[in-house]
Amino acid sequence: MSGLTLLFWIALPYVAIAVFVVGHVWRWRVDQYGWTTRSSQLQESRLLSIGGPIFHYATFAAIGGHVLGILIPASWTAAVGIDEGMYRAISASLGTIAGLLVAVGLLVLVYRRVSVPRVRVTTSRTDVLAYVLLTIVIGLGLGETVGVNLLGGGYDYRSTVALWFRGLFLLNPRPELMVSAPPVYQAHVILAWLLFMVWPFSRLVHAWSYPLMFLGRPWILYRSYRRTRAGRREAAANR
Ligand code: HEM
Repeated sequence: MSGLTLLFWIALPYVAIAVFVVGHVWRWRVDQYGWTTRSSQLQESRLLSIGGPIFHYATFAAIGGHVLGILIPASWTAAVGIDEGMYRAISASLGTIAGLLVAVGLLVLVYRRVSVPRVRVTTSRTDVLAYVLLTIVIGLGLGETVGVNLLGGGYDYRSTVALWFRGLFLLNPRPELMVSAPPVYQAHVILAWLLFMVWPFSRLVHAWSYPLMFLGRPWILYRSYRRTRAGRREAAANR
């Protein structure tokens, strides 16, 4: 086995999982009060109210796609009557819609972060790195779903990438399965591990603390004091 094979398909995943777990424990212990999305809604709310929901809901859909394609064995879906052709049609259609919406949401959020100076100054260097990695990982994911699955000849990643990924957690890594995968799949996965290593040190930690009731209501309501009855009374008194 070559050194690079060992590095990319065994060492990197295990190091990334260790950094991800230990990093979260460390962050919780030393920076519990900084464990937040560091909301910038007060700095800008219009673009956030467009990009935020698109990005998050589409990401939930894409996560569902990953569970179906990577964690669930092909034999299970075959057992309920979904053969490889049918699976590919589902992943190419729904995956493309989800992936494009994730990308659109991310573009709005990145544009907001870059173009609104008040938001830009609240962005740490680690957050910039997380945004860059997110953009590349999502771009490569689209390359797989749209470029290979929808427009290209397709690739049966459930018999390589998915088996290799599950093998890591069953302590039976089979790096040879990744060596033969097309470069876009290899790059997507390598960059995803790097993203997982940055995750605990960035604002992405908020993903684990999102109250589920937020899904059905606006996230934080900031009201102008002047618009309340007490505020109007005070303003009238001062006139
Ligand atoms: C090591 C972990 C990961 C593996 C093994 C993996 C694997 C894959 C595979 C095989 C596809 C192609 C799906 C298809 O064409 O049907 C894909 C697509 C995609 N991936 Fe990942 N991925 C991982 C992590 C991530 C992460 C962390 C993100 C987001 C930040 C992400 C975002 C996407 C997107 C947006 C797509 C295209 C839309 C979709 O099919 O859902 N992936 N990924």
